[in-house]
Amino acid sequence: MNKTNPLLSVSDLHAWYGESHALHGVNLEVFEGETVTLLGRNGVGKTTTLRAIMGLIRKRTGKIEFEGKDLMRLPLHRTAYAGIGFVPEERGIFATLSVEENLMLPPVVSKGGMTIEEIYKLFPNLEERRNSQGTKLSGGEQQMLAIARMLRTGVKLLLLDEPTEGLAPVIVERIGEVLKTLKQRGMTILLVEQNFRFARRIADRFYLMEHGVVTTGFPVEELDERMAVLHEVLGV
Ligand SMILES: Nc1ncnc2c1ncn2[C@@H]1O[C@H](COP(=O)(O)OP(=O)(O)OP(=O)(O)O)[C@@H](O)[C@H]1O
Ligand SMILES: [Mg+2]
Repeated sequence: MNKTNPLLSVSDLHAWYGESHALHGVNLEVFEGETVTLLGRNGVGKTTTLRAIMGLIRKRTGKIEFEGKDLMRLPLHRTAYAGIGFVPEERGIFATLSVEENLMLPPVVSKGGMTIEEIYKLFPNLEERRNSQGTKLSGGEQQMLAIARMLRTGVKLLLLDEPTEGLAPVIVERIGEVLKTLKQRGMTILLVEQNFRFARRIADRFYLMEHGVVTTGFPVEELDERMAVLHEVLGV
């Protein structure tokens, strides 16, 4: 793990929806090989942070560097090519395409991505359903497909927005196993998650967001001692 130069470095990031100021100077860093979880109550700006990193929100200021490259200067369609894969909360599975067509759709952006055989090994349920239409998939299968299709592309960083939301405990468990395997393979992950009982099993570090800024960062080892405060801040 390279602890001197972060893979992703975000500083003083502001973002707006029209006149509405949603991010008020977000600072965070993600080092290569780490899994970092962004916690925070509803509406504090977690999704907005991921969208602003991807360039999906154009009204933004601050600094976003990935592998030392300045992402603020890239046009939108180049952000994914820089090597960041975004799995949005709504998953974005193409309903009229089959599982395999969905898997093949995102372009390869860099060497080192997984082969389709490796992906099916990691997601045997997707292989079984390779010819099923997107609409026929359960929520859990859609979530797995949304993650799986990023793995072919060779991205180095995955941004995952609440991948376990609304899913049954056994599926959440399965997604946890997949993320652990990806981590072992060297993938770097920035995960938005309200469920910190899930996140603690895979996260190396946590950031807490409140009102459009990151207020605290701490390693997973400190989670227990911070639990009371987190329960209060997160309202869980
Ligand atoms: N498309 C939009 N247009 C206008 N305001 C928005 C839009 N999306 C989000 N917001 C506002 O921006 C703020 C941050 O929202 P965001 O979705 O980033 O929060 P979040 O932390 O991801 O919340 P949640 O836990 O509900 O997913 C909120 O006040 C929200 O109402
Ligand atoms: Mg959100």
